[in-house]
Amino acid sequence: NTHKSSAQVPAGTNVDESKVKPYTLPDPLQMQDGKKVTNVNDWNNIQRPYIYHLFEENVYGRIPRIKLTQTFRVRETGDAIGGLATRKQIRIYLSTADTSAFIDLLLYLPKSKTKAPVFVGYNFNGNQTVQADPAIFISENPLRDSRLKNADGTASDSTRGIASNSWDVKNIIKNGIGLVTAYYGDIEVDTKDGWQTGIRTKLKDELKIQPAEWSAISAWAWGLMRIMDYLEQDSNIDAKHVALFGHSRLGKTALWTGATDQRFAMVISNESGEGGAALARRNYGETIKDLNERFPHWFVGKYRTYNNNASAMPVDQHMLLSLIAPRPLYVASAEDDQWSDPKGEFLSAVNAASVYALFGKKGLGTDKMPPLNTSVGNTIRYHERTGKHAVTEFDWQQYIKFVNEQFK
Ligand code: GCU
Repeated sequence: NTHKSSAQVPAGTNVDESKVKPYTLPDPLQMQDGKKVTNVNDWNNIQRPYIYHLFEENVYGRIPRIKLTQTFRVRETGDAIGGLATRKQIRIYLSTADTSAFIDLLLYLPKSKTKAPVFVGYNFNGNQTVQADPAIFISENPLRDSRLKNADGTASDSTRGIASNSWDVKNIIKNGIGLVTAYYGDIEVDTKDGWQTGIRTKLKDELKIQPAEWSAISAWAWGLMRIMDYLEQDSNIDAKHVALFGHSRLGKTALWTGATDQRFAMVISNESGEGGAALARRNYGETIKDLNERFPHWFVGKYRTYNNNASAMPVDQHMLLSLIAPRPLYVASAEDDQWSDPKGEFLSAVNAASVYALFGKKGLGTDKMPPLNTSVGNTIRYHERTGKHAVTEFDWQQYIKFVNEQFK
């Protein structure tokens, strides 16, 4: 199996479990004054804000809290998914001062509910990729992947439906849940210099924050919070039951967003890996250095100081998961995605449980990795499925089940 795994990762990457050196994780309950958190009050008022601040400073940067005046325009509504759903397309204008700062939302809402719980998640290459439905407006902001774009950087018509395998819309709708998605490039295009044309530059005076004080991940998180503002005033949406979903880099983004904004009632991390759910101190699969070299725009500058020294970080990623407590959290991995370190994601979920316990909630309830393709846990859930780095029907089946159980 080591052979199979190492075939999937760049040379020099450690995917040998026997080479993981012993490490000590910081305890999320250990307060600065030496005492341990024993109750929800101390957690909410002292320790939680402290850990959150450590992530701002060392990993993701700050997210501005200034409220801008946001307006919404309904661009289109129609029948979809064989008549089972209503499709809505909304443009969210993020500021009244700059009409080029917008997020285009695509919503599918089940007709079986007047107020539906929803999954919310960004897509990688535009709303038109999510379903092969000619009524979907092609996202207007430039793409990252040169194979998919026109000369001007925008998505080509041939991208329609190319991501439909990653979005199990039919089963989501059949289970009485809605889906809300947007292209993350509406906020900032995912390239080293994307910040220059994205909202970190466009809105910097209004939001009173310099581009380097935050990061692409924080900017995308801010965008998800603005989507939540919209959802709260859409009468067809049960905004108290919004499950935030993200895959890979967008899974990192979902976790940081859920940690920041407790209006999101559930967080689902699909193979978020390093800088997401995976423990950095294991130095297995992708490392902090790998991230900073290839994606310097994702994190705040200080994160680079941990390139060769994960243990010097005052946090590890189980503490990010602990900030989701007491809300339901799903961490998922894939066997052929050793780059994301499935075991490191599992152990991170194991080590977030002490904070859930403060609220009387049970985490995974085990410290043994479950067999493949088996979901385990309680308020924290985990699976490692067979197959590669992707979002599959199996993954969605677990998330749908989790929503239906937890949002009852
Ligand atoms: C790269 C990156 C990962 C990231 C992934 C993705 O592989 O190294 O950290 O999660 O892209 O977003 O697909």
